[in-house]
Amino acid sequence: MLLKKIVIAVDGYSSCGKSTLAKDLASVLAYIYIDSGAMYRAVTLYFINNKVKFHDKDELQNALNNISIEFKNSIDGKCSTYLNGKDVEAEIRQMEVSSKVSEVAAISEVRRKLVQEQRKMGAEKGIVMDGRDIGTVVFPNAEIKLFLTADEDIRVDRRFDELKSKGEEITRDEVKENLKHRDYIDSTREDSPLMKAKDAITLNNSKLDRKEQLNEALKIIKTYVHQ
Ligand code: CDP
Repeated sequence: MLLKKIVIAVDGYSSCGKSTLAKDLASVLAYIYIDSGAMYRAVTLYFINNKVKFHDKDELQNALNNISIEFKNSIDGKCSTYLNGKDVEAEIRQMEVSSKVSEVAAISEVRRKLVQEQRKMGAEKGIVMDGRDIGTVVFPNAEIKLFLTADEDIRVDRRFDELKSKGEEITRDEVKENLKHRDYIDSTREDSPLMKAKDAITLNNSKLDRKEQLNEALKIIKTYVHQ
């Protein structure tokens, strides 16, 4: 569909379907998909497992130097997040990580390391990356910037259903609290707060199913790429 390889940035609040859309776009366009949130989650998991006191600058730097994150296909053929060679895809989605990730993602040293790696991954273009600061900080020159939104109750329902289906013991209220907590920290932090880039296009998917949101995004991409 696209003759020239471009960068597509998908940003937005927690659980609004960014990764579903970004994965679907990458699959249709034969692009690489990068889940930048998984990288912040992997760093958080490392900090939890190794009891890193990240307020101590030396300890923080030392820990960051020991972290290597990769995306590879796991045994079941699905793309997984690997932390220092170990598949951590399931672990990073659990509530323990979700409850701490926004504090970790607000640390400038953490962001500096991950943004550098994300830019390397996108150097050849032909990439769809989702996150909070992709269109504003990581790829401010991205050819397409989508800002995804959905009503809060719908986002809570979607994430609650997802976690339940994975067998996590959790209440809807806990999911709601976590979403609100992360959205608040993500949009008020000093370094690279979550905000819509000036040239991003808002897509509200509250009433759209997976196929409809993909079609809407493809329409936007076609319009802007053929200008
Ligand atoms: O899937 P969900 O939208 O709930 O979150 P995620 O994309 O997995 O991101 C987890 C957390 O990582 C976010 O709440 C942010 O605190 C942080 N994050 C960030 O700061 N910058 C990014 N580019 C991506 C994620």
